[in-house]
Amino acid sequence: MLSDSYGRIATDLRVSLTDRCNLRCTYCMPAEGLDWLPKADQLTDAEVTRLIGVGVERLGIREVRFTGGEPLLRRGLVGIVERTARFAPRPEISLTTNAIGLARLAQPLRQAGLDRVNVSLDTLRPDTFRELSHRDRLPDVLAGLAGAAATGITPVKVNAVLMRGINSDEAPALLRYCLEHSYELRFIEQMPLDAQHGWRRENMVTAEEILADLSAEFVLKPDDPAARGSAPAEAFLVDGGPERVGIIGSVTRPFCGSCDRVRLTADGQVRNCLFARTESDLRAPMRAGASDAELAELWRLAVAAKLPGHGIDDPSFLQPDRPMSAIGG
Ligand code: 5AD
Ligand code: SF4
Repeated sequence: MLSDSYGRIATDLRVSLTDRCNLRCTYCMPAEGLDWLPKADQLTDAEVTRLIGVGVERLGIREVRFTGGEPLLRRGLVGIVERTARFAPRPEISLTTNAIGLARLAQPLRQAGLDRVNVSLDTLRPDTFRELSHRDRLPDVLAGLAGAAATGITPVKVNAVLMRGINSDEAPALLRYCLEHSYELRFIEQMPLDAQHGWRRENMVTAEEILADLSAEFVLKPDDPAARGSAPAEAFLVDGGPERVGIIGSVTRPFCGSCDRVRLTADGQVRNCLFARTESDLRAPMRAGASDAELAELWRLAVAAKLPGHGIDDPSFLQPDRPMSAIGG
């Protein structure tokens, strides 16, 4: 098992398959000038699959989520999903994506074993989309979402990050859109993970503000908190339900105490937290011939050292050196 000294057990593995992306969302990447991971440092399909196998078969990983950058840009994605689905016990397999290209890939991915998908969608206005992501691709994202729904991958979840003065007025519109299409919407408070280190607490749209904005147009009632478990989203029934909306107060309502996640970067580093300042290298030992048992032991040690929380409110807080695009969501 992957346990830490605060009694938490990591069962949810997030695997970043590439640090590249076809968008440049400002809360994640700079508009230009970010260096990519060197190709030789990136794990091969066989290497990443082997490490997932170690996690599932030796360390109690029950859920594998593929992230990026943009995981649909990883050439071997379908094959990696297929091999992941063959480990025992078969893990739940999900994908966090911007959905560009998903219209074409949803069916093969589903066939390979993909169970669930989370799509990032922050705005429904083409101009705002361009301002926020520096690319003109809103139609591709909406088509990708529809494509995922059409293959029957349900529920299709949508993640939205609001930024003051850009899309902070769009909470009700996003919810209306998602209700219409039966997508499950969750808002995520913006965290200090941008490559430019431009995050300022006062610019963050808080969970409380989002709730207030939505409540002007919808009747929101807290869903049974017992159903939340280790899920970070606080769920609300919309207009009596059964539809729901989630609000993830990553910063103002941290859920570190029940965190069950561990991360693997595209270059083979275990991160025990999004905000970790240190990483544990599995790539070098693996390439030097380490056995599965040895890799599992290194991984165990990495999780054992996990800190109690992200400490964003601590005066000594330092943003991680890697931007979100090189960590994975
Ligand atoms: N703060 C909060 N959420 C973020 N995401 C990316 N960067 C940030 C950030 N700085 C979200 C994306 C995506 C998921 C991987 O995390 O919108 O849905
Ligand atoms: Fe790409 Fe996702 Fe980062 Fe946006 S948030 S730039 S879609 S990796």
